[in-house]
Amino acid sequence: MAKSRTIYVCQNCGRTSPREMGRCPGCDEWNTMVEQVEAPEPSGMARRVAGERSEPKRLAEIEGDPWERWPIPMEEFSRVLGGGIVPGSLILIGGEPGIGKSTLLLQVVAMMADYTGPALYVSGEESARQIKMRAERLGITSDNLFLVTETNLHVILNHVEQLRPRVLVVDSIQTTYHDDLQSAPGNVSQVKQCASVFQQLAKESGIAVFLVGHVTKEGSIAGPRVLEHIVDTVLYLEGDAFHTFRLLRSVKNRFGATSEVGVFEMQGGGMIEVLNPSEAFLAERVINAPGSVIVVTMEGTRPLLAEVQALATTTSFANPRRTANGVDFNRLALVAAVLTRRAGIRLSEQDIFVNVIGGLKIDEPAADLAVALAIASSVKDRPMPADLAVVGEIGLSGEIRAVSQLPARMNEAAKLGFGRVLIPKTVRRGDPLPDIIDSIAVRSLDEALDVVFRGDH
Ligand code: TYD
Ligand code: MG
Repeated sequence: MAKSRTIYVCQNCGRTSPREMGRCPGCDEWNTMVEQVEAPEPSGMARRVAGERSEPKRLAEIEGDPWERWPIPMEEFSRVLGGGIVPGSLILIGGEPGIGKSTLLLQVVAMMADYTGPALYVSGEESARQIKMRAERLGITSDNLFLVTETNLHVILNHVEQLRPRVLVVDSIQTTYHDDLQSAPGNVSQVKQCASVFQQLAKESGIAVFLVGHVTKEGSIAGPRVLEHIVDTVLYLEGDAFHTFRLLRSVKNRFGATSEVGVFEMQGGGMIEVLNPSEAFLAERVINAPGSVIVVTMEGTRPLLAEVQALATTTSFANPRRTANGVDFNRLALVAAVLTRRAGIRLSEQDIFVNVIGGLKIDEPAADLAVALAIASSVKDRPMPADLAVVGEIGLSGEIRAVSQLPARMNEAAKLGFGRVLIPKTVRRGDPLPDIIDSIAVRSLDEALDVVFRGDH
């Protein structure tokens, strides 16, 4: 790889200097000079790739999916990447510590190694023995999987040179450091610089590189966020410590659709794919419990049934409490206000708790109607009909607004055995509704309450 050199760049005026300086000679600001490694000239393969790309072609002359993909024998993971791993791509997997990033990647690369050829798992956090123990727990025996504990970037590159793996995992990017930089590992410039080197490595060699990045609860300091524009694909592994479900979400993908989601369950023997998540999320549902509503939400292109629960109790405070778990707090406040003003359900003396079962987070407004009905059902202490699923956004006038991908949502509800879906009356054009399930179309929140509680509200 070409030689690189360290320079100092002012974050204020862009002035560069070969030496470290407290004060920028350009704009006289203090502490604005940040060290950077000057990108070396692209060599070999990288230059050729750049050369090939610069010839303009007619749209029709460009092939559809020019990317070769290595299939991953794990359907949920494969879907999130857009149908397999593109050789030479740099993939970042972010998530809170302990969520299962190392476990999932170890499982995936072990599977891939048997198929693509050698895989190298570089850990800066655990010893090879620890990883071996985890591998035993996961039942991994692959002969093509190599492990090493290393944090020095150049040593890692040497290992790669010698082993010539097809897949490389760097766990984590925050523990990896570049010799030429003075700053500590995990520092913004270290993290960025190391990631750029891995990007170059991936493009030159065709190795698929996975970077693990930790996000902290307080927001990410030198975490995956600063890397999002450097890498090709960004995946986040989400979930919470109290539940076993884990969602792998793509937020950026140069080689496929974003907002795809894969669902896993963390079990004693590692991450298990959940191929029918709706069923899993509804597994513990209690039929005819007041305050429980089934919503059909979309995770990317995938419909998912989930249970929204609400509990309203008389408050003992001057300001009643609103607690939202798994739904947006501001949406909850809006829904509660509309319920009071447009449907006459008094909530000013009620504490309201809303919870989405299974640790799922729903951030789309299409869940509004479900939240509203769950609250109403709890206030009235009357259960929703057991065969009814709900979808719809609520406007400030109490109107029920159209939602995206209604047919897909209705099909999913039908698949899970629901007999009826409560939907918005206004349907987007070009959305022919499936006839395998009955739909009840409503215009307003009032109408929805009429349907559900048979006029008695
Ligand atoms: P880990 O993959 O180390 O998380 P990360 O790399 O994101 O920090 O997972 C850590 C947790 O997962 C740990 O609390 C133990 C649990 N775990 C299981 O429940 N089952 C398993 O098979 C394994 C390997 C870990
Ligand atoms: Mg880990």
